[in-house]
Amino acid sequence: MDYFKVQKTLSLNGKINISGAKNASLPLLFSSLLAEGKHSFSNIPNLEDVKLSFKLLKHFGCNIEVNTKPVFDKKALSLSSVVIDVPKKLKNIAPYELVRKMRASILCLGPLIARCHQAKVSLPGGCAIGLRPVDYHIDGLQALGADLKLLDGYIEANADGLLKGANINLKFPSVGATENIIMAASLAAGSTCINNASLEPEVLDLIFYLKKMGADIIFSSKQEDGLDKNKIIINGVERLKASCHKVIPDRIEAGTFLIAGAMTGGDLHLNNVKACHLESLLKNLQASGCKIEVEKCGDDSGEDKIYLSSDKSITAVNIKTEVYPGFPTDLQAQWMSMMTQANGKSIIEETIFENRFMHIPELNRLGANIKVNKSTAFISGYAKLKSASVMATDLRAGSSLVLAGLVATGETQIHRIYHLDRGYEFLEHKLSSVGAIIKRCR
Ligand code: EPZ
Repeated sequence: MDYFKVQKTLSLNGKINISGAKNASLPLLFSSLLAEGKHSFSNIPNLEDVKLSFKLLKHFGCNIEVNTKPVFDKKALSLSSVVIDVPKKLKNIAPYELVRKMRASILCLGPLIARCHQAKVSLPGGCAIGLRPVDYHIDGLQALGADLKLLDGYIEANADGLLKGANINLKFPSVGATENIIMAASLAAGSTCINNASLEPEVLDLIFYLKKMGADIIFSSKQEDGLDKNKIIINGVERLKASCHKVIPDRIEAGTFLIAGAMTGGDLHLNNVKACHLESLLKNLQASGCKIEVEKCGDDSGEDKIYLSSDKSITAVNIKTEVYPGFPTDLQAQWMSMMTQANGKSIIEETIFENRFMHIPELNRLGANIKVNKSTAFISGYAKLKSASVMATDLRAGSSLVLAGLVATGETQIHRIYHLDRGYEFLEHKLSSVGAIIKRCR
């Protein structure tokens, strides 16, 4: 199995182009099941999770054309365009051997029920960060009139005829459940209102694509519209049509590199980002002593450049993970890595997942001093990290270990980096291009 060798890096300097968002790409790819025809996507990142989504879509009968472009001196291939050709008649069974590798496969359930009025999708397993139940998905789809049963590890769904619009109150603004319900409701008869919906940027990107396909969706955010909870209204339509879409930038990839720059010191310049998706992180980076500048790209992409400069002196900043626009849970592990280098103690509270501290024992093996009490971690600063062999337990925990390896003396080996290949496009190439000493070994 591949592993990374990461050397202590003096500072990171230079330009990194941010890839398309993994967590926008996956629902967008599954939304293509809602309409027969050719769906064209650009800025889809070349990730393991994307390849697994392609496998599942092909399993349903879709034809997938991918154009690639060699990058990083032909050491890697980017996906310059992806066309999903969706047939009139879809297969509607998602087998365990495909679903177990990627939890987000559950996002095919809503579209399949909406298009085929029945579906059989394996229950996704849990993962390192938590049980990851799908009860909110099931409750929401049942509210739309589907009859869902759990049988031999599969969700068997039947809807005699069209789904019907409903009023749905989510107990928690679940990203995946919101996405599944929106997709199913887009072809339902009548209007659906999702109260306490997730309005993360990736959910909005899905909504924008569905509207291009002809869906009738409006949303109001408690931040902007003074409601007590986010609300999404979907007026079902008879048919949707294939369209084209460029995936938004990956705010978590961008945040990971910004934190790396803050830890090692130096001047980092990120291209193809949306600074408005990273407000909470940028505010906390500035509070920790980094200088941040944002510059509009000037073209019609609506994208920005973000400049970070850091002198490596890090002020301890406490964070608590929250739903958007709060501090993202997907940057919690990376922030914790940075806080081991801060001038003082800090506290991190994880409120989204029940077990998202798996990186702590590995960081402590590198010499960090982090204690945990339930969902709160207490980090001592000034840690002199020393190289060791460590293991990625999940995607973002893995990235926090790469960041720690950049400041640990000696050569750190990071194993099980297949977790990283699921969510970071060209990680070692991008980090090396700004001065990191990181090598993939087999
Ligand atoms: C999405 O996962 C992201 N994945 C996650 O990113 C991200 O951490 C998460 O949203 C939160 O922002 C994708 O978009 C592919 P949730 P999702 O449903 O949809 C509980 C990464 O590193 N819950 O918002 O699965 C759940 O257990 C990944 O890129 C239920 O109890 O997250 C969790 O505690 C990791 N029942 C909380 O809600 C349900 O039916 C938030 O989960 C669904 C969720």
